[in-house]
Amino acid sequence: MKQIVFITGKQAKLQELLRNLEGNVSGNLIERETIDDVLALLSLVRDIDLIITPEQLPKEGSVAAKLSEFLISSDLQIPLLISGENAQASEGIHVIPPSQLTVEHLTDKIETLLGGHVDSSGKKIETTTYHPLPLSYLYYVKTLPCHIYKKVSDKPSYNVLIRIDQDLSKELLDTVGKEYKEVFVPREYHPNLINNITNSMTAHFSAAGLTLENRLKANSSLYTILKKEINLFGINHSISYLVELVFQSVLEGAMEVFDKEGLQQYAQKISESTTTFAYKIVHLNALYACYLMTKLVREFVEYQIIVGYLAFFSDIALPDRYLKIRSTEMLKALGNIPADEDATIREHALRASRIIGEYRQAPTGVANLIKKHHGANDGIGFPDKLPDDVNKIIMVFFITETMTHAMLAQGVPYLTKEVIDSVAPKFDGPNQQKIIKVLHSIC
Ligand SMILES: [Fe+2]
Repeated sequence: MKQIVFITGKQAKLQELLRNLEGNVSGNLIERETIDDVLALLSLVRDIDLIITPEQLPKEGSVAAKLSEFLISSDLQIPLLISGENAQASEGIHVIPPSQLTVEHLTDKIETLLGGHVDSSGKKIETTTYHPLPLSYLYYVKTLPCHIYKKVSDKPSYNVLIRIDQDLSKELLDTVGKEYKEVFVPREYHPNLINNITNSMTAHFSAAGLTLENRLKANSSLYTILKKEINLFGINHSISYLVELVFQSVLEGAMEVFDKEGLQQYAQKISESTTTFAYKIVHLNALYACYLMTKLVREFVEYQIIVGYLAFFSDIALPDRYLKIRSTEMLKALGNIPADEDATIREHALRASRIIGEYRQAPTGVANLIKKHHGANDGIGFPDKLPDDVNKIIMVFFITETMTHAMLAQGVPYLTKEVIDSVAPKFDGPNQQKIIKVLHSIC
């Protein structure tokens, strides 16, 4: 969906023209009254496709000259469409005579400039497609890259719900949220919206005085967003920055714990935070697995990063409602579920490894470890028992994950001797027992 700014200078004739254009052109029309209003908008939103303006405004003189100068100095390549008897066309500046300021002429001119097209019968083709997203995404954005839309009942058409320049206050979103949980964004602007979320959250994270509880809450919400996005689109360019932001936030805290008191206190803060179950499992796994690495290997930093990846991505392809399924018995206990859901659960390790395989930041070999994180070499299903000769990183991660699931299931805020003893019999191999012994030492 194209964004078109129309400077009316509060002139009734131009305002009426703008209203009549709405619905005729395949773009959003944004009214602005003065040059300053436009400059303020451009400082927030740079994805403007066209600016329409009279050559002169009564109080401001030559609008076109001032705007053109600003666009060049700001390195913005936005075409101008100027109306004026003496307006001069040049590169990036198009002219429409005042006599042609009619809906028909102006629509034709806009469509030509913006590449809109018509079918063989002369009917205009609407090429915009819309991507649904939860309204909750907008709580993490300061500015919008485009209007946000609502779907019109059962029809394949969409109306503006939140305008690009509206203040995204909590009050506004709460009000909208009473009626709409799902909103729509033109597909071409979806990456920009994800970028805006990342930018505002980067600023949020770097602000001084962010409490651990607030950091955990932000991480948890962003993890929900990135998991959904990754499962729809993979780790594409727009989501990769957000992934990195949250991953680093999780890992930094986990890697900074070296004593058992600090470890258990941190675990308790995560367990008791107002975050999702999926996020708690991720962060607790990263925390305990990183700590185990400090006790099991000499040069542990590299291993901590790898178990951090396992904690973050192993179940990225497993829907949250199935996160507790960790064995063939538990899968069977679900009863008859659709074949595609069954495959999603059984193949989640394989699917996660394919996703991470396309993430350039991931260390070599991580995709393979994620594929085997339940002990199956092909990444499918749940073997009954973890072999004692499995890769040590997988062993540490798998035992940690089994422990944290048991811990949350038993309603305990950190690993206790009772929790460890309740699952330790599953891990009777000599190598596995060494890890259990280290875990016992933290209680
Ligand atoms: Fe898993």
